Amino acid sequence: MSEIPLIASYSAVKLHPRGRIFPHDVLDAVPRAAPGVIDLVGMAPLQRDGRPVDLAGMWERAAPLLATRDNDAHSLYALGIAAALSAELPEADPVVTLPAILLHDIGWSRVPPDEVLSAIAPGGGRPDLVRLHETEGARLAREILRGVGHDVDATDRIVEIIDGHDSRRYTLSIEDAIVKDADKTWRVTPHGLDVVMEWFGLGRAEALRLCASRVVDQLFTDPARALARGLIAMGSVTLWPQSAALADG
Ligand SMILES: [Fe+2]
Ligand SMILES: [Fe+2]
Repeated sequence: MSEIPLIASYSAVKLHPRGRIFPHDVLDAVPRAAPGVIDLVGMAPLQRDGRPVDLAGMWERAAPLLATRDNDAHSLYALGIAAALSAELPEADPVVTLPAILLHDIGWSRVPPDEVLSAIAPGGGRPDLVRLHETEGARLAREILRGVGHDVDATDRIVEIIDGHDSRRYTLSIEDAIVKDADKTWRVTPHGLDVVMEWFGLGRAEALRLCASRVVDQLFTDPARALARGLIAMGSVTLWPQSAALADG
């Protein structure tokens, strides 16, 4: 069995079984594809004017700019969430939405690393640094999009979305709404909670309350609200003493 690397340093997702209880191999009955199961390279038919959108090329260029505080894994998970929301909101243009969410946080690479967490810490924060990561992110995103030959009109819209993705309290478009919602909904995913726990030294229960308090009421789309509520409910159940007792048993 090939080893698949874990996506994130702060999380441990089970990728292989410890064994097999059922006596027969069922692998032949497992479909090769299924609705909602996506990969980054094959996120086709993402095309503009007959040319494929080079999400993999964008990622290659963006990853080095995201290699701190699990920002890289955050961006990939947020991309996955945005793809799911896009499937529920077909009026949005994924040629705008998906590159925008993939590249939205690359501007953190231009903020001094020791100041990044103070910029986003609960109970205060540094709006000036939040703004800086937006403007620098917009500038860097334009370079990356030009580098992969992305559609020019879509590029303008992507840059506009990134420049204000955190500080702007309203949305410019449905694509902007999906980017904002995917970014925030990530916080209440298992990976989001793992990361926030490490950032601020919080237990899982505190991280869940902190993240949940900053998500549901701030979302713009119905699919994101449903997704976030489901994730928060799952996170809550994990913490129930009844669940812990099962795990111990
Ligand atoms: Fe951001
Ligand atoms: Fe983000």
